[in-house]
Amino acid sequence: MLSLVHSVCHKKMEVQMEEAKHICVYSGCAHPELSQQIANYLGINLGKCHITHFPDGEIFAQFEENVRRADAFLIQPICNQPNDNLMELFIMMDAARRASAARITAVLPYFGYARQDRKDKPRVPITAKLVANLLTCAGADRVITMDLHAQQIQGFFDIPVDHLYARPVLVPHIKKLIGDNGVVVAPDSGSAKMAMAYGDMLDAGFAVVTKRRINATTVASSHLVGDVKDRICVITDDLTSTAGTLCAAAKILKANGAAKVYCAVSHCLLNETGKERLLSTPEIEQMITTDAVPVTDTLGGKIKVVSIAPLLGEAIRRIHDGKSVSSLFYINH
Ligand code: R5P
Repeated sequence: MLSLVHSVCHKKMEVQMEEAKHICVYSGCAHPELSQQIANYLGINLGKCHITHFPDGEIFAQFEENVRRADAFLIQPICNQPNDNLMELFIMMDAARRASAARITAVLPYFGYARQDRKDKPRVPITAKLVANLLTCAGADRVITMDLHAQQIQGFFDIPVDHLYARPVLVPHIKKLIGDNGVVVAPDSGSAKMAMAYGDMLDAGFAVVTKRRINATTVASSHLVGDVKDRICVITDDLTSTAGTLCAAAKILKANGAAKVYCAVSHCLLNETGKERLLSTPEIEQMITTDAVPVTDTLGGKIKVVSIAPLLGEAIRRIHDGKSVSSLFYINH
């Protein structure tokens, strides 16, 4: 029975793609600058979709051009106002589906709610799975995302997920900072795999710090495994919010003799506490991040932003053309 359902879904997608004629890129309100850069990369105009928020908070979206048979890519990182941004995306997808788009791809440069990915306490939700269900229900035929908090979240979807990495974009910049004397540091056990992947690309050493979360804004780093004396460290993480994780790790690295400490973070979700903390932590020289979410304040150069628009643009082009996306996981593609 299940295989019958799968083959019917497959058939439906084949038919959709036979019909899909052209790439259309539409932006939600979360990050129009990134959407525009992606459209520029693809050499097309950003599609016209009018989005209004009514005084009572309801959202309305209307495509102001024909989307019939379009291969529609809807770009919306789930950041800053995650609930509004999600709802906006659902409503845009519903409108695109009812307007007969051939295929709808939800492009989530940052997949919010990803940290709620398991039932590790009694009576808690698995919100990442709920979001996956809602995206599919609203009309997504496929998803593009980047540096999920946990890779297994891909399995929350029964539609194709193209999971990209910021590493190929960030590594050339990091290499200039660490040269041949680098150590990549995981600031907690959960990010060890990501740090090792950076280490392989950078041909650098590896270390890990143990982290204990005291509350939502405070963490303590207690132990360091690995040798960082006189080395240039780069702490890698999928996201930062209060910068507690990065700053605690940087302090323990410096206390153990690290020459310099940098950070490389895919999603910069710094709140006011995080910005103040980063500014007042001289142990961190600089944080390198991407524009997966808007970074409005670079804290006088303490944050360096590298664009992932070419990465997302190229992924969109390859998906549309039915070409491999995995070559984007490496630096020389
Ligand atoms: C947690 O597992 C994540 O990978 C990040 O390390 C964490 O969410 C960062 O949060 P904060 O910046 O508030 O310490």
